[in-house]
Amino acid sequence: MERRNVGILGATGMVGQRFIQLLADHPWFNITWIAASDRSAGKPYAEACKWKLDTPLPARIAQMILQPNTPEACTTELPRIIFAALDADIARDLEPRFATAGCAVISNSSAFRMTPDVPLVIPEVNADHLAVLEAQATRRTSGGYIVTNPNCSAIGLVLPLKPLEELFGIEKLFVTTMQAISGAGYPGVASLDILGNVVPYIKNEEEKLEEEVAKLLGTASTTAFQPAPIAVSAHCNRVAVIDGHTECVSIKLRKPATRDQILAAWADFQPLHGKGLNGLHLPSAPIFPVEYNADDTRPQPRLDLMRGHGMTTTVGRLRPCALFDWKFTLLSHNTIRGAAGAAILNAEILAVLGKLDFRDFPPMKFGQTAEVLVPA
Ligand SMILES: NC(=O)c1ccc[n+]([C@@H]2O[C@H](COP(=O)([O-])OP(=O)(O)OC[C@H]3O[C@@H](n4cnc5c(N)ncnc54)[C@H](OP(=O)(O)O)[C@@H]3O)[C@@H](O)[C@H]2O)c1
Repeated sequence: MERRNVGILGATGMVGQRFIQLLADHPWFNITWIAASDRSAGKPYAEACKWKLDTPLPARIAQMILQPNTPEACTTELPRIIFAALDADIARDLEPRFATAGCAVISNSSAFRMTPDVPLVIPEVNADHLAVLEAQATRRTSGGYIVTNPNCSAIGLVLPLKPLEELFGIEKLFVTTMQAISGAGYPGVASLDILGNVVPYIKNEEEKLEEEVAKLLGTASTTAFQPAPIAVSAHCNRVAVIDGHTECVSIKLRKPATRDQILAAWADFQPLHGKGLNGLHLPSAPIFPVEYNADDTRPQPRLDLMRGHGMTTTVGRLRPCALFDWKFTLLSHNTIRGAAGAAILNAEILAVLGKLDFRDFPPMKFGQTAEVLVPA
């Protein structure tokens, strides 16, 4: 696979930093363009960014200059692949501009996740939904499009749900999250609000979790999505953990399943192995997207967060539920599997499917004003 140039929008934030870290030595992608707010434009990355990760800031990126954040204002060559890590309000304005200019916009924000012609994708769960991007208006003009990854709690949850939905069907789901503070970005929640504390409210989070589960486990035609008929009730809490969202889940299945059948369903869940990927292994795909830990005291953020390089959901404590059928606890890394790693995995599958090849489309439009086409 030839290395493709990529850009990062929102490169200085919590998710943007993960993009820098995960893409620094990526075999298929090469960072050539970065942007953040107008406050950061024109500055070297090291000056504009408060680097918060536990690996050194790559020297090449430290010196890169943050560019203006619209294609119209762009003065250097814009790559055709843009990873976006922007707040939803900003993404709603900026992401369609990049799609109009001819970019594949691989977004982390909630702005377009539920838009009818925008795929919301976890490659192990619903890669077939990517076909819908061909219905976007910008795809027909410039070749550009928007693809999204789910909310950070939805990704970790849907991975273990997928094999259960396929084998037994899920009728109802009750989930309580304990979400890390890095999920609120930087500087995020004030220390006086979170230290020694639990905050039982994260704005819009329960709604996102409930609707995204249905879209992810639903079906797609070439033009639209049909949500899965699963009743979901979510309680979302912010807890004093730096990274890693923990979730307690109860499920009611449509067909009975034994404990051994559920454990086998998770152990056998390797959907990206040898299926329609031209023999290629996606570099960011974990061998096991779901791993069960039989120790009753697991999963724990401090011990299990980096399973599968942060791309695996660790599940534990599978036991009967007095209200529904089964209950269990899961843990997922919110800025890797829940954000930057998820978007990179989406880009990898788009590359294998040929959707990052723009040979048949007109050259990019940047450095000039353009009429912006917003997804339907
Ligand atoms: N954190 C997570 O675990 C997580 C997980 C999944 C999804 N997400 C989503 O990912 C997105 C980014 O989250 P985050 O946690 O990385 O947020 P963050 O730490 O607050 O970073 C925000 C980024 O956006 C840039 N920005 C701010 N205003 C801008 C503007 N007007 N134009 C262009 N860029 C602007 C900031 O640049 P400056 O430094 O110049 O201000 C910064 O690079 C959000 O939509 C969030 O919901 C986050």
